[in-house]
Amino acid sequence: MPRKQVVEDEEEVEEVGSDQESGDISGPKMIAELEQQGISATDVKKLVTAGFHTVESVAFAPKKQILAVKGISEAKADKIIEAAGKLVPMGFTTATELNNKRANIIKLTTGSKELDKLLGGGIESDSLTEIFGEFRTGKTQLCHTMCVACQLPVEQGGGCGKAMYIDTEGTFRPEKIAPIAERFGLNPTDVLDNISCARAMNSDHQEQLLVQAAAMMAESRYALVVVDSCTSLFRTDFSGRGELSARQMKLAQFLRALTRIAAEFNVAVVITNQVVAQVDAMFQADPKKPIGGNIIAHASTTRLYLRKGRGETRICKIYDSPSLPENEATFGIYNDGICDAKD
Ligand SMILES: Nc1ncnc2c1ncn2[C@@H]1O[C@H](COP(=O)(O)OP(=O)(O)OP(=O)(O)O)[C@@H](O)[C@H]1O
Ligand SMILES: [Mg+2]
Repeated sequence: MPRKQVVEDEEEVEEVGSDQESGDISGPKMIAELEQQGISATDVKKLVTAGFHTVESVAFAPKKQILAVKGISEAKADKIIEAAGKLVPMGFTTATELNNKRANIIKLTTGSKELDKLLGGGIESDSLTEIFGEFRTGKTQLCHTMCVACQLPVEQGGGCGKAMYIDTEGTFRPEKIAPIAERFGLNPTDVLDNISCARAMNSDHQEQLLVQAAAMMAESRYALVVVDSCTSLFRTDFSGRGELSARQMKLAQFLRALTRIAAEFNVAVVITNQVVAQVDAMFQADPKKPIGGNIIAHASTTRLYLRKGRGETRICKIYDSPSLPENEATFGIYNDGICDAKD
């Protein structure tokens, strides 16, 4: 039997390492703390210039990346890594400690109680959640609602932090925010001020924005990072089979940086993704599958599949999750954001 062919061929390039387990994540440690471990202020400054703003970012980076910093020799890199390792526990911990770490995890409301219930409380921090589905299934709408909801106090289902929106398709609409803010009883002006938005123009730019993102997160508390859409620029920048492996490699790198940010700053990361048709659609129960293949599958902790329901309703299915069953929930799209479906 011939191997099933998909429009988008998904050769595996390299597994995305999930090396984000870092012990205590009550808050990131500022990079200046390395000075107390005997690293000179000049070297710390070099690291900051290269985009390292926290001790975690150094501790989680492969040595190659530290060596690439201008003015950091092999000996210095070793010293820096050792110092970072003293501040950020990276070895084995007991399950009890891991359990305590899980206690730091915040669950952000989606705006819909039904959807929150499906998700076991909401979208988790320190984790990547992928939302995929066809066009007009509400991915962008859900992201807009989350940008407001994440600003709520923790008791109300928020993360008490700002939102960051990396927009690759130019579909972020600030005017959508005010009605959502009002619904949650928040001041629209403040809510808008607390959303940092950047338009990514190409896949390199999309990756570079994460360096700036990390710097901003070191300065103030962010609860959410949205990348809408995560894959579209990679698809257009790399075309055809010939560039597939380069594309997957770059995508893996981007996702790895995102995963690190999620762990470093205990933020929820939401990425959106589209679906592609499979050639042998006839023989499939559901002929659509998300873009990015194994690279995206491995990087996202929770994968949610959206599809259209009647009228303004949409159905969300848990496609993949380490802890949730494959159930579905229905929500609706309204002027004031995502909500439980109204009759
Ligand atoms: N106020 C509203 N009331 C009801 N439905 C709405 C409202 N505003 C937008 N919609 C619906 O939301 C859908 C658009 O959703 P959204 O832009 O989030 O899709 P998407 O999944 O991001 O699509 P794409 O893949 O093209 O980015 C449209 O079907 C539109 O009719
Ligand atoms: Mg969209």
